[in-house]
Amino acid sequence: MCGIVGYIGPKDATPILIGGLKRLEYRGYDSAGVALIDRGALETRRAEGKIARLEGVLAEQPVKGHVGIGHTRWATHGPPSDRNAHPHLSTDNTVAVVHNGIIENADALRKELHRKGHTFRSDTDTEVLSHLIQELFEGSLEEAVIGALRVVEGTYGIAVVSSKDPGKIVGARKGSPLLVGVGDGQYFLASDASAILAHTREVIYLNEGDLAVITADGYRILDINASPIRRSVETIAWDLDAIERGGYEHFMLKEIFEQPQTVANTMRGRLRLEEGTSKLGGLNLSHDELMAIDNIVITACGTSWHSALIGELMIEDMARIPVEVEYASEFRYRNPIVTPATLCIVISQSGETADTLAAMREAKRHGARTLGLVNVVGSTIAREDDGGIYLHAGPEIGVASTKAFTSQVVALALFALKLARKRNLSVTRGREVTQALDLLPNQIQAILDQADAIEAIAESYKDVHNFLYLGRGYNFPAALEGALKLKEISYIHAEGYPAAEMKHGPIALIDEKMPVVFIAPHDSVFEKVVSNIQEVKARGGKTIVITSRDEPALAGLMDHEIRIPETVDMLTPVLASIPLQLLAYYIAVKRGANVDQPRNLAKSVTVE
Ligand code: M6R
Repeated sequence: MCGIVGYIGPKDATPILIGGLKRLEYRGYDSAGVALIDRGALETRRAEGKIARLEGVLAEQPVKGHVGIGHTRWATHGPPSDRNAHPHLSTDNTVAVVHNGIIENADALRKELHRKGHTFRSDTDTEVLSHLIQELFEGSLEEAVIGALRVVEGTYGIAVVSSKDPGKIVGARKGSPLLVGVGDGQYFLASDASAILAHTREVIYLNEGDLAVITADGYRILDINASPIRRSVETIAWDLDAIERGGYEHFMLKEIFEQPQTVANTMRGRLRLEEGTSKLGGLNLSHDELMAIDNIVITACGTSWHSALIGELMIEDMARIPVEVEYASEFRYRNPIVTPATLCIVISQSGETADTLAAMREAKRHGARTLGLVNVVGSTIAREDDGGIYLHAGPEIGVASTKAFTSQVVALALFALKLARKRNLSVTRGREVTQALDLLPNQIQAILDQADAIEAIAESYKDVHNFLYLGRGYNFPAALEGALKLKEISYIHAEGYPAAEMKHGPIALIDEKMPVVFIAPHDSVFEKVVSNIQEVKARGGKTIVITSRDEPALAGLMDHEIRIPETVDMLTPVLASIPLQLLAYYIAVKRGANVDQPRNLAKSVTVE
């Protein structure tokens, strides 16, 4: 949720930290701050609001130094404010800490430290760390940090500096990602590689429980007993272009328009057109293991949960294996029926969502094999799963997930196909799917070419207060996803429903002020959806219909029509989601909303 960056090296740390924080701002943006060691003294600058406000503070009160840490925050404990912004200082102002995660025993520690004479200056859980480290400091910062981490309960990714041990930054991770960047005579810490990509592509992803000590001369990775451990240096595959807006007004728009390419990337080298199947290298499941799968649980949150619902339909339809889809946040706290014959598929763009990670660990505890569908390479879920399918959609910066969703659905289709062809799906049916998958990138482009027409529709609806999204079969999850996109970036209340369910309650909402988006491609439930459109029109509702061919049955029923190409039923949500994303985007922009950084949200939810 929050972002961390740290720098040590020959350059002035301030612009490097600010540049890194700007790259991380999508992860949390209610306040920000930096701490630098400036001629032996620890200096902090903090500000509520966006990084631009922190830059204003720095312009008035500049600070320089070769060692520094920075943070951009998404509030958990204590409201967004200057005093709650990180870094947090110890009572004697010698230790500064930035922290992602939650210290669960912060209240008890705070009382104890208060009794020992420490003065607290924020409402955050994080602040106990700086006081604890001060308390335990006996000459070595890493030893004091280790001592503090032995006492705290909860999750953390931290970076710590001290004026009493000024030539180093100590980082540590447990439940919140952190990596070391290895540059040319300079070293970095970051919660996300995008923060340091302008300086280096060589990184070491820390494992759970690792500590890192970076100095101007190198780095050391330690365990909680201060024993050195070896971790390999990896090279990040993407470059700076991938995390820049490239001429688009927003990252979200760029990411929507990238989808012909990102969907192709998800399929690259994996489609077996003639055999009507897919080749998935990272599953780590032998033929016998694939055949032994008796049931599947798919767990995820938010948009990833919507793709899971589509995956359920695909797998059950083609591979005939029972599938349960569970919100990760619910799964982890109930007593799920998971056995060693269960395959648990975990879907996450970031690979860091706390609930999803915990659900995966819970499934493992029950003996299930886990398969991660993850976008971010090297993320925690990708490192802890038993096998995986990387989405290869590239960095997704916009808080509203777009290209990751379409890639998730495509990855699920590839997996369902492989499983089904191993079991009993005919090559003919398999080929229908592979051929349809192969056409997707061009079909998506054809929809994107209609962006202006969708923008014009958005103009008519930018001032409404409610929206309904309806679809059936494969497009019920697409309706949920369309509603989520709209509500999270435009703040318009929107609900998704299975179209036929409307008459069991939501139909009471229909009047001339209620726009209803119907997802009605020409699939096996098309006629049924037409009846539902008639029910809305009969009550004066306004309809925006996403459909795939000229159809007399729709005459007079559509206030607005958006055309998508035809495909097999199971891939219709991929195509339908493109106009849904564009509609949400344009409505939000026309309402003046900050689509890339919607209020109260953050890109990856690394707290419970
Ligand atoms: O990184 P994840 O896929 O695990 O994230 C799950 C949700 O937090 C995420 O999809 C969220 O719902 C997005 N804001 C949706 O646009």
